Amino acid sequence: MRLESVQSAAQPAAQPAVSSAGVVWIKLAVLYLAAGVALGMAMGMRQDFTLRPVHAHVNLLGWTTLALAGIIYSIFPQAGNSVLARVHFWLMNLALPVMMGALAYVLTTGDVKVLPALVVSELAAAAAIVAFAANLFLNLGGAERDVRGQGEVADPARVA
Ligand code: HEM
Repeated sequence: MRLESVQSAAQPAAQPAVSSAGVVWIKLAVLYLAAGVALGMAMGMRQDFTLRPVHAHVNLLGWTTLALAGIIYSIFPQAGNSVLARVHFWLMNLALPVMMGALAYVLTTGDVKVLPALVVSELAAAAAIVAFAANLFLNLGGAERDVRGQGEVADPARVA
């Protein structure tokens, strides 16, 4: 039996395998990657590594964490379209630029007058991660069954 006919017979609901819930996350993430890589190259060229913590956080919180959230929200739209996902999105995306700017300012000038902004933005970023964790624990349940069902059908080894 041909693979396509088995797939179409087993997927009458024609649900997309992924949703668009994570697209904006992934687009923002790749902007952070571009900024993080540019900063890394600038540090290397100037042999000045003062901003190493900014580079590391732009890449790891900005690129890696946002991209992972985007991929997870695309695979699990029930989580991606929830109120907690919106809380996660706004807390993280408002906190991160402030946090990176304040950290860069403190590191380059030694002036701690922006420390309150740094602390508040760090707390907001941490709260975003709590919202993310709560969202995944509360909203992955139903989607798990759908994804497993599609995976079984789409696996050519099982059809052969
Ligand atoms: C072309 C891309 C990149 C360049 C040119 C670059 C450059 C650098 C440089 C020059 C340092 C400082 C090294 C030192 O102090 O000895 C550094 C540190 C670091 N980079 Fe990158 N980087 C790039 C991409 C990335 C990416 C994609 C990530 C993570 C997803 C990343 C994560 C880190 C971390 C965590 C550190 C701190 C390491 C430590 O303090 O021991 N970098 N990078």
